[in-house]
Amino acid sequence: MKDANLIVGIDHPDDAGVYKLTDDLALILTLDFFTPIVDDPYTFGQITVANSLSDVYAMGGTPLVAMNIICFPEKTMDISILQEILHGGVEKMQEAGVLLVGGHSVEDDELKYGLSVTGTVHPKKVLRNSGAQDGDSLILTKPLGTGIISTAIKADLANETAIAKAVTSMKTLNKKPAELMMNFRVNSCTDITGFGLLGHACEMIEGSDVGIEIYASEVPFFTEALEYAKMGLIPGGTYRNEEFRSGMVDIEHSVNTDLVKLLFDAQTSGGLLISLPQQEAETLMCEMHAFGIVEAAIVGRITRENPGRIVISG
Ligand code: CO
Ligand code: CO
Repeated sequence: MKDANLIVGIDHPDDAGVYKLTDDLALILTLDFFTPIVDDPYTFGQITVANSLSDVYAMGGTPLVAMNIICFPEKTMDISILQEILHGGVEKMQEAGVLLVGGHSVEDDELKYGLSVTGTVHPKKVLRNSGAQDGDSLILTKPLGTGIISTAIKADLANETAIAKAVTSMKTLNKKPAELMMNFRVNSCTDITGFGLLGHACEMIEGSDVGIEIYASEVPFFTEALEYAKMGLIPGGTYRNEEFRSGMVDIEHSVNTDLVKLLFDAQTSGGLLISLPQQEAETLMCEMHAFGIVEAAIVGRITRENPGRIVISG
């Protein structure tokens, strides 16, 4: 069924759906839920909410209200764990200025928590994961490696510093970079989650007449994650990303193979990947650094030299 008010639907996979209500107001709708990636329930709640709201920020919108989605093994797990998860979640929503308006829970063998989020955006200011232009620079706002560090946590091999850094990053909202980018001519934006930097970058240029060069040496990552990658602590999702997308990616031989694993690493609550004209990108970078988004970096450029492909340069 065609509907003239549907701005982004399932025909063009993007971070969220967008539906126009009036000439100056559209709804953004998105849903995400997850199994635990950290042991502490409060922290898991915080990370989940940061991750669930991120798609709204990536579309250029403002999240307004949310509903909880809960699967809980009530026969085998103490209810206080669920209370702590929800406590962490609601405090993160408050930080984002998002109201919790309801939700639903079911009994399940495996714990899962997430949100259905509704936000708003001006219909003409929707940011898609396509539309990047020749000459754009690409900004990444968070370091890579949370998937590899989560795998190290599960194997009991992650050190406290690595865990603390990854957790802090995952529970950080993408609200501030999203607000800052609104003052610039952003051509495309998405958030880095399960497909990893390269998977989401592939989506950005797939089927278009432009390609991407990624500057491997400029990409921010957690140093511990590179060590864990060397040890083979790589999540299944990261291998799948590499298998699925390696046909679109050319890697210069000077690029460290363990670093390539990080570029494919499946992220939880990763940063925004923002495509905008080079000079504006440099100004936006300075603003981000001034506002404490210190890991943000220009990690690549959009080019006509390799249409539909990604080149990783050393
Ligand atoms: Co997304
Ligand atoms: Co999502």
